[in-house]
Amino acid sequence: MTRPYYIAGNWKMHKTRSEAAELARELTARLKDGKHKYLVAPGFTCLEAVGAVVKGSNILLGAQNMAAEEQGAHTGEVSVLQLKDLGVQAVILGHSERRHTYKEDDELINKKVLLALKHGLEVILCVGELLSEREAGQAEAVCRTQTKKGLEGVSAADLARVTIAYEPVWAIGTGKTATPEDADAIHACVRGVIAELYGKDAAAKIVIQYGGSVKAENAAQLMAKENIDGALVGGASLKADSFVPIAMFG
Ligand code: PGA
Repeated sequence: MTRPYYIAGNWKMHKTRSEAAELARELTARLKDGKHKYLVAPGFTCLEAVGAVVKGSNILLGAQNMAAEEQGAHTGEVSVLQLKDLGVQAVILGHSERRHTYKEDDELINKKVLLALKHGLEVILCVGELLSEREAGQAEAVCRTQTKKGLEGVSAADLARVTIAYEPVWAIGTGKTATPEDADAIHACVRGVIAELYGKDAAAKIVIQYGGSVKAENAAQLMAKENIDGALVGGASLKADSFVPIAMFG
């Protein structure tokens, strides 16, 4: 089974509208012959500007988060309907910064996953262990639980719109990367969870990205691994010169 490679840029809380649109313009030009699947996730305020640039290109428009409710009295939140209205096609959910800095738990993340899928969005569900959990030998158990709980109630049909991103928390923005072997072991474990829940075919099809200090120098070795099907890139996605070599690998 050959799975498509999927490379996504998470711009986090960086860039104004004009800066974001400029980066998007450069990426659409430089990735237009790229053979993989691509996504950029700018901040909420830049979605409209970036959406106008990537429309009709081979780059999907993604959001970095979304409210767990469709609408209502939720000051400061952004709803799935508002995202869809801006042309958003996919949403990153359960990012470690949401889990740890903003205290989102598996139950809340699962609610968001179900809501995004109900409204036709694609989802990138992030899982990953803390350094203390890895040191205690719990990395696989943590990722298993986050995967299972994040996907609770997701139908087999909807799973086709889900990508998992394994992002060890200790590797995000730190310059430390999991070795390709260590990352592949967790990816294999997550794929095993999918096999248990949805069967072998679904497990063979699901795309599992790696994230955590991915850069041009380590991307190819990571993605050469059997179970690593792409990358969720933070820091290196902020400039075309560092993102394009990752996105055009192979
Ligand atoms: P990083 O971030 O590439 O800067 O480590 C990855 C992520 O948080 O998605």
